Amino acid sequence: MNFETETDAAIQNVKKIWAIGGGKGGVGKSLVSANVAICLALMGNKVVAVDLDLGGANLHTCLGLPIPTMTLSDYISKKVTNFEDLLVSTPIHNLKIISGAQDELGMANLKHMHKNQIIRKLHELDADYILFDLGAGTAFNTIDFFITADKGILVVLPEPTSIENTYRFIKSVFYRRLKMIDGIADLEPLIEEAMKSKITASGGSTSPSDLIKKICEINPDVGLKVKNEMGHFRPNLIINQVRSQADIDIGYSIQSICRKYFGIEMTFPGYLDYDQSVWQSVRKRKPLLIEYPNSKLVNNFDRIVNRLVES
Ligand SMILES: Nc1ncnc2c1ncn2[C@@H]1O[C@H](COP(=O)(O)OP(=O)(O)OP(=O)(O)O)[C@@H](O)[C@H]1O
Ligand SMILES: [Mg+2]
Repeated sequence: MNFETETDAAIQNVKKIWAIGGGKGGVGKSLVSANVAICLALMGNKVVAVDLDLGGANLHTCLGLPIPTMTLSDYISKKVTNFEDLLVSTPIHNLKIISGAQDELGMANLKHMHKNQIIRKLHELDADYILFDLGAGTAFNTIDFFITADKGILVVLPEPTSIENTYRFIKSVFYRRLKMIDGIADLEPLIEEAMKSKITASGGSTSPSDLIKKICEINPDVGLKVKNEMGHFRPNLIINQVRSQADIDIGYSIQSICRKYFGIEMTFPGYLDYDQSVWQSVRKRKPLLIEYPNSKLVNNFDRIVNRLVES
């Protein structure tokens, strides 16, 4: 692994926020968050990994830490008033974490005010990279955390249920971003109609990309804003638990469907092999990259992180 070179963020002191989501539970979001965080820290960056899986927090386990005593729910309940007090050191130099709630708080129940406050505090943290490990599902709050990040990373398993949930997640992000655009309110019925369309390889009846064309015809000013906004929406795809070339190729077909159906470009920085060392490291409560430095996944992560840093 090449940890010699300092990445752009460390050199230019520009904070980067990456969110790791994917719609479905158990696809490897926390595994990716933990190990991408380790890679970035070993490259010399100051990293904070934040467990935003409120209610099902387990990022600490992937990093080999016990359940932290202070979590985001202590901040929300005002037991902790200084946000920085939530930062917990890890055995890895440069890497700290903020743990999610252990109670039944749930992302869906996080009040708007609390969410905005947490987003603001997270953006103010002193770090080169801040990683959001999101929970499963497409709750508004999860989507909003994803949208506020500079880079969105989607973890997908090469199986139909995970792929479907990924499209559902992208669709939710697409419409959430659309609805935030100034002047879009008049076009609400058109959006609602398109939201119901089915995702197919040929593009569907009123696909999101058709919707953008229609918006441009009806109101070219708003259409331009929509095109600009969606031009910036460039999620990154990681296919996890790969066992064959066919599994890897799923990444390319997701890219192509997203281009046709959503009219958006996805980046495919790489895949992660299925590897027994993952559950062995989870069982040992040790970070994978540290405990199994010779596993296939080390090379996988190295390639993915380098591509993400460069893009
Ligand atoms: N590449 C892999 N090879 C083998 N097993 C894997 C791999 N990736 C993930 N797993 C297994 O899948 C389990 C779930 O991973 P993880 O907890 O990272 O998923 P998650 O998406 O964060 O789940 P949740 O939605 O519950 O937060 C891991 O404990 C591990 O056993
Ligand atoms: Mg998780």
